Amino acid sequence: MPAFDLVLRGGTCVLPWGEEGTDIGVRAGRIAAMGDLRTAEAAETIDCTGLHVLPGLIDAHVHLRDPGDPAVETLESGTRAALLGGLTAVFDMPNTAPSITDRERLDWKRGYLEGRAWVDVGLYVGASKKNIAELASLEHQPNVCAVKVFAGSSTGDLLVEDDASLEAVMRSGRRRICYHSEDEYRLQERKPLFHSGMPHRNHMVWRDVDCALIGTQRLMTLARKTGRPAHILHVSTAEELALLRDYRDVSTVEVLLNHLTQTDEAYDRLGGYAVMNPPIRDERHLRAAWAAVADGTVDVVGSDHAPHSRAAKERPWPDGAAGLTGVQTIVPLMLDHVSTGRLSLSRLVDLMCAGPARVYGVTGKGRLAAGYDADFTLVDMKRQRTIEESWIVSPCGWTPFAGHRCTGWPVMAILRGAVAMREDEVVGSPRGTGVRFAEARG
Ligand code: DOR
Repeated sequence: MPAFDLVLRGGTCVLPWGEEGTDIGVRAGRIAAMGDLRTAEAAETIDCTGLHVLPGLIDAHVHLRDPGDPAVETLESGTRAALLGGLTAVFDMPNTAPSITDRERLDWKRGYLEGRAWVDVGLYVGASKKNIAELASLEHQPNVCAVKVFAGSSTGDLLVEDDASLEAVMRSGRRRICYHSEDEYRLQERKPLFHSGMPHRNHMVWRDVDCALIGTQRLMTLARKTGRPAHILHVSTAEELALLRDYRDVSTVEVLLNHLTQTDEAYDRLGGYAVMNPPIRDERHLRAAWAAVADGTVDVVGSDHAPHSRAAKERPWPDGAAGLTGVQTIVPLMLDHVSTGRLSLSRLVDLMCAGPARVYGVTGKGRLAAGYDADFTLVDMKRQRTIEESWIVSPCGWTPFAGHRCTGWPVMAILRGAVAMREDEVVGSPRGTGVRFAEARG
């Protein structure tokens, strides 16, 4: 019997301690050896010459809409999009229809993903004012990545906006809580200032810097008071990033690909297809986001993949839906940022592998190391390709990044030791399963 099921030979591997030319041997779905394996016997060998081998990339922030509207997205199509885009795991948000807020729906979802998911999946549980007492037990159920709190309203009906309820949520349980941070009171107060049919750029005027900053200030005060760790999702302002540097004792930070890539010119070019919460803002915030990537403030980069129907996106502002697709495009676009020198491949791996593993307590994924899952994203940093809408497999069928030419492209993805995507084709059948977390074992 060969020593290995699979050997990746000749690639440049992005290891936790830097880039190294090394071979990787896989046995029973896990990394069994690293080093010079030129003479090792293997059932299958992949020549990785000219390619970079990354740990399987994770998108810790997606909305796969299942249960919900299959004409927009399903768990099957969303994870297929993830895989074609070079990811091997996603963490799925709970604001579905109905929302994932109790044990019954969570158990249903865990069973439902088997045989349907193309990549491994972590599951968020939604907090509501009605399930606060159950959160302490829900967060420890298998495959749960975190409790998600919408402290400001967005898509769906999940909302916990007042300090007393937020404090009660923080006091029920102990794992890191993920927050959509926009101050609901300021959002509602400012809504009457705007009317239907105004230009889309008013989205960032309505949901302004202070909406985000006040929301995050309130959450940080409560997190310190209760000692409950926080993860502020999609931080979108220079002001919050400055604030959060003083709260590293209680909080970690996510920034979105969109906020690193798009500025307010997108409203004029894309109309409703530029509308998301929190909003795309001006250049000053994009520069602050990159500075926060450079100095380590940012722990995780995600896509906030949030598909909606074209009809819902094309309604006049502000009656349209907020949210942009991104799970299939985040890896090519981040690789393009690497190519233009905005970050290194090692930092990308930190933001999309080690970062999610650290923030959410993933076990067995997120680094190239012996014993870890044999999840790999193989990238060709020389490949140039333009993102085309026809490539998008989410049934909603659109991307705000159509026409963007990328240098660097994911050419293969390996999930727990088996090739799952090769050159734009998914391979085999959906083999995804629940992601494991240290504090989620039932
Ligand atoms: O733009 C957004 N869309 N922001 C969110 O927080 C939710 C998401 C969605 O589910 O559509």
